Amino acid sequence: MEDKKVIFSGMQPSGSLTLGNYLGALKNWVNLQNEYDCYYCVVNMHAITVPKEPKDLRKNTLEVLANYIAAGLDPELVTLFIQSHVAAHAELSWVLNCFTYYGELGRMTQFKDKSKKMESNAITAGLFTYPTLMVSDILLYQTDLVPVGEDQRQHLELTRDVAQRFNNRFSETFKVPEPFISKDGAKIMSLQDPTSKMSKSDANENSYILLMDKPDAIRRKLKRAVTDSEGVVRYNDTQPGVKNLINIYSKITNKSSQEIVSEYEGKGYAKFKDDIAEIIINELSPIQDKIDYLLKNKDYLEKIYISGAEKAEKVARKTLRKVYKKVGFIPRF
Ligand code: TYM
Repeated sequence: MEDKKVIFSGMQPSGSLTLGNYLGALKNWVNLQNEYDCYYCVVNMHAITVPKEPKDLRKNTLEVLANYIAAGLDPELVTLFIQSHVAAHAELSWVLNCFTYYGELGRMTQFKDKSKKMESNAITAGLFTYPTLMVSDILLYQTDLVPVGEDQRQHLELTRDVAQRFNNRFSETFKVPEPFISKDGAKIMSLQDPTSKMSKSDANENSYILLMDKPDAIRRKLKRAVTDSEGVVRYNDTQPGVKNLINIYSKITNKSSQEIVSEYEGKGYAKFKDDIAEIIINELSPIQDKIDYLLKNKDYLEKIYISGAEKAEKVARKTLRKVYKKVGFIPRF
């Protein structure tokens, strides 16, 4: 147990999870749970960087936890918890805000993309400093590896920079973590615009598949998925729509892209899309049943997040205590 490497990752409860969240991250988390000491957090503090209805946030927080378990995370093996239950996240975040530069945060592409779409007087300081909270999430657990999708790479680079900066200034304090991003399928693209990532904040609901989507919705969305006029299932960058569908297919079935391409030689897109819809439905329907079941058993979920927070807190406090001492805060105990 002691020498297992540490994994930390999290998802925002900003709505239902998408197939992108699942294939880009959650499915990999499940594969890692036996080999590593894993902390998987529902990052509800990140979710309020943009306006949120309190009742929706409460509901989504429990839903994401239920999604984690339904996707196959075993609460006996991994630590599952809610970010706001471990105060050290906010506390470390303040300290690290004082070791992160304004210019660095301004260069974060996710901030630039999100803030571009907002009225300037609606962009909060929280949205701007959000990456420092993510840095803190990761560094509190002396994390070795962070399994995420491709879109989080820049935040992980910042995490490494801040950790190294702090270590250089005060002596070794934080483990410098490595990103853990799979080669293919780390970026599932929109079904309507295969040059942009699949995201639940997309205005067009045909562009994403939600983990809770019913079979009919999945079939409909696949039928409408944008491909091209080539009519040949091939894996290359000039056919981004088809490439994305192959990635989805491959991530779920573990078949290689070459295998899939040869399976569909001469078959056209209609059959290909129909088959993918069924593959997705088969993958998601047992998960959906389990989510429904878990959401009816709130007491069980509560037990899990309470014991998860207790475990997480011990580790997090230890790191925070070290940090406070190094920066010169007088300990109370
Ligand atoms: P979030 O909530 O946007 O997404 C959760 C995870 O899903 C991945 N993901 C995708 N992967 C492939 N294709 C897609 N279309 C796709 N959409 C989302 C994301 O890469 C992510 O792994 N800032 C983070 C949450 C966070 C975090 C952390 C992650 C907060 N603290 C500490 C790791 C460690 C975020 O907003 O992810």
